[in-house]
Amino acid sequence: MLKVGIIVGSTRPGRVGEQVAKWVYEQAKGRTDAAFELVDIEEFHLPLLDEPVPPSLGQYSKEHTKAWAAKIAPLDAFVFVTPEYNHSTSGALKNAIDFIYKEWNNKAAGFVSYGSNGGSRAVESLRLIMAELQVADVRAQLLLYLTSDFESYRTFQPKPQHEQSLKNVLDQVIAWGNALKPLRG
Ligand SMILES: Cc1cc2nc3c(=O)[nH]c(=O)nc-3n(C[C@H](O)[C@H](O)[C@H](O)COP(=O)(O)O)c2cc1C
Repeated sequence: MLKVGIIVGSTRPGRVGEQVAKWVYEQAKGRTDAAFELVDIEEFHLPLLDEPVPPSLGQYSKEHTKAWAAKIAPLDAFVFVTPEYNHSTSGALKNAIDFIYKEWNNKAAGFVSYGSNGGSRAVESLRLIMAELQVADVRAQLLLYLTSDFESYRTFQPKPQHEQSLKNVLDQVIAWGNALKPLRG
């Protein structure tokens, strides 16, 4: 069974990202075509990248890097739940992505973003990053708006139509995650 990680892309105290990621997980977990897991980067307490050797060479020296790599390695595909910070993704998510390399390769990814404008610019920046990591990012994406999908910008109350948009993301992530299996060996 394909394993899909739902990655919480914010570590900020008071973050809304955790609510969004839990909703994604609740929506996804009833599916029978993949297994889903919440992956909270906050739990890994990653410092700013402190590996002396570039991660693409695979010589991880720190325990926190090894723990993070061990979490990502068995997953086949990802849904990145990302906030928009200054027209990009969060520094915390970018840092967590940068820490490792081969654990991302030849896998599929989709995006759920949120912000004043749905977080679309965060997703665009992540798509550039995915190319370098050899991650196949799907077209479908779910944009959530701080003004209409959150009460007082804090409590997540998604519009009902987002369930279908999320399903579209998951359908594509699972299809591509399966298609790339031969490359993962
Ligand atoms: C440093 C920072 C920069 C932000 N920049 C943007 C932005 O460029 N565009 C936007 O729509 N929202 C922006 N926001 C608003 C965030 O999208 C909003 O606070 C959201 O709740 C952050 O996600 P989080 O609560 O999961 O951390 C910014 C928030 C922070 C903290």
